[in-house]
Amino acid sequence: MANRSLWGSKVGFLLAAIGSAVGLGNIWRFGYMAYENGGGAFLVPYVVALIVAGIPLMILEYALGHREKASPPLAFARVHPLWEPLGWWMPVVAFFGINLFYAAVIGWCMNYFCFSFNLSWGEDTAAFFFNDFLKVSDGQNPFALGGIRLPILGGTVLTWGIIWAICYREVSHGIEKASMIFMPLLFVLTLVLVGWSLQLEGAWDAIKNHYLHCDFSKIDIMTAAGRKVWVAAFGQIFFTLSLGFGIMITYASYLPKKTDIVGNALTTCVLNCLYSFITGFAVFGTIGYMAQAKGVPFGEAIKAGPGLAFVVYPEAINQLPGGNAIFGALFFLVLIVAGLSSGISLTEAFSCSICDKFKISRKKATSIICGLGLLGSIVFTTRAGLWILDIVDHFINNYALVLGGILECMLIGWVLKSGVMRKHVNSVSNVKLSVVWDIAIRFVTPIMLIVIVGGALLNEFSDRYEGYSVKALLFIGGGILFATRLVSFILSHFKWDPKRLAEKHHEPEEDDLLV
Ligand code: ALA
Repeated sequence: MANRSLWGSKVGFLLAAIGSAVGLGNIWRFGYMAYENGGGAFLVPYVVALIVAGIPLMILEYALGHREKASPPLAFARVHPLWEPLGWWMPVVAFFGINLFYAAVIGWCMNYFCFSFNLSWGEDTAAFFFNDFLKVSDGQNPFALGGIRLPILGGTVLTWGIIWAICYREVSHGIEKASMIFMPLLFVLTLVLVGWSLQLEGAWDAIKNHYLHCDFSKIDIMTAAGRKVWVAAFGQIFFTLSLGFGIMITYASYLPKKTDIVGNALTTCVLNCLYSFITGFAVFGTIGYMAQAKGVPFGEAIKAGPGLAFVVYPEAINQLPGGNAIFGALFFLVLIVAGLSSGISLTEAFSCSICDKFKISRKKATSIICGLGLLGSIVFTTRAGLWILDIVDHFINNYALVLGGILECMLIGWVLKSGVMRKHVNSVSNVKLSVVWDIAIRFVTPIMLIVIVGGALLNEFSDRYEGYSVKALLFIGGGILFATRLVSFILSHFKWDPKRLAEKHHEPEEDDLLV
């Protein structure tokens, strides 16, 4: 497409891609997962997942977007028309399966940012979060919607407004400019937070004993519990690197011809995982301080997911010897900035796909999609929002993203042939790929991912997720997987503009080819 948007600079692209990867998952999910799954030993499955799936797939997604200069459905359809529904599935999952609840959670963070200034969560932060703020419906019942929570709706509207204002503009003016502000701000704020946490009393003991300490029995693949850890590590790698969402394909489609695909993929993966690791020091340091101040064991103080950010952190902020309000505001600002930079990428993947297929302007597509997104997010602002979010998040992470990864490997590894893609990558990258990448994409990565999905399914049947009713898991978890497939299937049935579909991808010059 002659007039396709382009990033204004290499660093702009890289910051936007890292901004997509670094999100709420790095802050509230990684630390707890490490604690729960053997401390430093969790880094073993995490790094294995990074090497076996994360890096090869990041290269694949960048390469596909760059080669075809197209959104996921168009790129997939060009490789083989029958694969178009999968190309749709990724951005549809990103939007309906994640973005809708993600925006509501950023809305929670906006509320908590305001609460920080006078610590309005009080002494009992759990009661405040669940009973006063979310007013959760009783008995973990995701069907008891019980009305909309207006403060959450307010935050969600503001979130969608910001996403719209950024995605509405051309990539180099909107997403790129926002990333140039968000990412340096995020890194500086995070470093301040980490530095502050590390000098709290008891912080280092907690870090040594619970974060860096390795309990290898927790990752033993021969035990059911150990297998769960491996499944969780792979799910986390997909979520944290924004893989299987179609985002990285979309972002790479705005790259100029000469781009170091391998170098950029490695930088994105390494910086994202390093960010998680460093943030873990702040999480463990702060909670360690609180546990010591209250005289409770560390294991009693730490909680999973939203509980970590909205119950444990406020409690720890209450206990700080000074600067409580500033520390609180800083923490929630970090979550807001990390969340927004991921939220815009989740929206962009879907809106770029709609623009490509229906030939409507970016402005129109973004406006329609953000309007739809706001309507869809409303369900997460109800009293059952937390339960629905929890189930949707579990199914999307464990199945949709990983399945997307397997199918991507099939398409590029076997239908297109990985050697063709490797030649393309090597013709433009400074760091060259060897045949090892082909072996990964054709065999190692998909086989490992199939084992992981199998393991996740076994867990599903042996242990009902978080004790939710079978009806809730089937209707909401199974429902989101079915609904996203259905929407993808419907979208793929509209006809392409034949010119757009046939447009030739930019093959590298013959001289550049590295065989
Ligand atoms: N990669 C984003 C996160 O970790 C979606 O939150």
